[in-house]
Amino acid sequence: MNQKTPIIIGEYHIIPENLPADGQLRLIFQPIDMTTYWRRCGLTANFVAGFYSYCYEASETKANSLSTIINELLENASKFSKAREGRINVELKQYGNLLRIDVLNVASKTLRDSFELFVNKLLSENVEEMYFSTLETKEDSDTKSGLGLLMMLKDYPVRFGYSFHEIDADTHEITVRAIINVEEI
Ligand SMILES: Nc1ncnc2c1ncn2[C@@H]1O[C@H](COP(=O)(O)OP(=O)(O)OP(=O)(O)O)[C@@H](O)[C@H]1O
Ligand SMILES: [Mg+2]
Repeated sequence: MNQKTPIIIGEYHIIPENLPADGQLRLIFQPIDMTTYWRRCGLTANFVAGFYSYCYEASETKANSLSTIINELLENASKFSKAREGRINVELKQYGNLLRIDVLNVASKTLRDSFELFVNKLLSENVEEMYFSTLETKEDSDTKSGLGLLMMLKDYPVRFGYSFHEIDADTHEITVRAIINVEEI
């Protein structure tokens, strides 16, 4: 099969791949694990944030901010995965004060295409303006309101990178990478 090269968008490669990490953690689960018990996203995010909080000067605010960011990425990966297919891969690497969080999920072509469009828009438009115009059109009961990532970008010093990898026509691996300097949060 003709393997496609991933499309990389945003600040994906700001930490050199060959730099040895000071620590790392990996978790693998299936989207269904989260979608049947949504609370697990929060539990997992709290666990991961707590796990890392011994690396830097422990502050509850830092751990909370980290957990909020991780929770959003886990929720998205679970919501926008192909129903029962595939897995969600969470990889954290620590480089001194920098934490790199990769969340990979498998999406359909339709979801991949709309996410790729969204991400390109994020990079070319003003995040605050996008946030407020999305907020105005949001329905109260919306679980896909399109505010999560905008809110992360608006409220936290986090840098995002994205990788879109076509495995076959309707199978696309999406990685959202968040890079956080724990001194800044
Ligand atoms: N991991 C992902 N895989 C596929 N598509 C994604 C992924 N994360 C986000 N998206 C796409 O990007 C859009 C924006 O994501 P975002 O988290 O900002 O909003 P949301 O999850 O729809 O709503 P909210 O976070 O406000 O509940 C989503 O609606 C979805 O189309
Ligand atoms: Mg979201």
